[in-house]
Amino acid sequence: FEYNEKYRLLYHFTPQYGWMNDPNGMVYADGTYHLFYQYNPYGARWGNMHWGHAISKDLVNWQYQPTAIAPDKLGAIFSGSAVIDHDNTAGFGKGAMIAIFTSAGDRQTQSIAYSLDGGKTFTKYEGNPVLSDANIIDFRDPKVFWHAPSKQWVMSLATTQTITFYGSKNLKEWTRLSEFGEGLGAHSGVWECPDLFPLTYEGKTKWVLFVSINPGGPNGGSATQYFIGDFDGKTFTPDAMNYPLWLDYGRDNYAGVTWSNVPAADGRRLFIGWMSNWDYANEIPTVNFRSAMTVARTLRLAHNGEHLIVASEPVKELESLRREPLSLADKTTFDTVTFENFLPNNQGAYELTFTVTPNDTDSFSFSIENAKGEVLTYLFDIANKTLSVDRTKSSVAFNANFAEMLVKAPLTAKKSYTVRLLVDKASTELFVNNGEVVQTNTVFPSEVYNTLRFKTEKGTLNLNDITVYKLK
Ligand code: FRU
Repeated sequence: FEYNEKYRLLYHFTPQYGWMNDPNGMVYADGTYHLFYQYNPYGARWGNMHWGHAISKDLVNWQYQPTAIAPDKLGAIFSGSAVIDHDNTAGFGKGAMIAIFTSAGDRQTQSIAYSLDGGKTFTKYEGNPVLSDANIIDFRDPKVFWHAPSKQWVMSLATTQTITFYGSKNLKEWTRLSEFGEGLGAHSGVWECPDLFPLTYEGKTKWVLFVSINPGGPNGGSATQYFIGDFDGKTFTPDAMNYPLWLDYGRDNYAGVTWSNVPAADGRRLFIGWMSNWDYANEIPTVNFRSAMTVARTLRLAHNGEHLIVASEPVKELESLRREPLSLADKTTFDTVTFENFLPNNQGAYELTFTVTPNDTDSFSFSIENAKGEVLTYLFDIANKTLSVDRTKSSVAFNANFAEMLVKAPLTAKKSYTVRLLVDKASTELFVNNGEVVQTNTVFPSEVYNTLRFKTEKGTLNLNDITVYKLK
């Protein structure tokens, strides 16, 4: 296997060889986090979909496992989820790990497979498929959880441009509960990869529904929208809000869903997304593999001053990768501050954190740059309440869709902004104000960015607590 090719990320999950897209079947069991994923073991473009598999003790260091689920007479293995059947509701065994996925043949149907050895090997249920519908062509990506109050498994399924919920006592027989989404949110592409889960805000439980959409993201191509509301075991009722809301405004966070079976004592809602975009995913300039996952993230509800949002931040375990912090001196500037060679022996894997306080200015920016003149700029446009990422000059050219425009996110005006940027050879993940604004964007620079520049047109910028960590 070739681990050293130029854009092989250093601290993100990438497939050993071949193509990867959506994360699938994430489940925690007996001290191990499982990550399955859409996988083509035969080549670095989409096709022959299997479930690849990796395991981790800490959501940071991953070990490759043998391919978990392979195509059969019902079709290729598309996206889905996994649960632990503590009460043996399906009859495969107490504590069985059960995968629920789409069989993509002539038609899309839902199938199940079980593992009695902790996810090492899976046996497909002989009664597959367990759910089909002759009338719906785009009928896929089952995400299942146990809903204790109604004593049933609940499946969220993408059904063209709505999400249909189904209920089951045994994961084998499913009944339609309700359908959500007509006329609400973004609809200019097919709906995919739903996830319905509870989060609490100030002690109150709200239900969040993730729906990935492609195309039709806020900055083109694929992106994940969400709804916040209530779920009674049958119907999801969204709160009145200005939809669509987007989990990540960057171009490269798609089809992400959350881990199941995380112990209540941990209490986190853990997420990972596919760090690419269908606009160009098959053409990114890698050779032996294609695509990476985002870092694992923790989700929470936050209030942005106007309404509830889902904020996301890297899991705390990621901090274990930090080498000694390198502090840059606090600065106040009227125009430009440049830190050249800000990271000695820069291998392209680092984390940058700082606090910026603008005074009497409508906009300011910071950028990371290299000696080839490639530059990635973050523009805080306070007057227009947007945070834009300009990657038009960030990378080598490879696809017309990649770097054509500014990637925009809404920004609430604040006195100061805390910024956390994760950079890994070919990826950037920006978290502002503890994950209230998130921008994940891939980049393909011809050499590492090692200059950091801040600029303001007017007024002053106070820069504090600027810290760089090389990441292991
Ligand atoms: C989303 C998606 C899913 C599908 C899978 C196929 O990226 O299109 O809807 O199950 O990819 O690989």
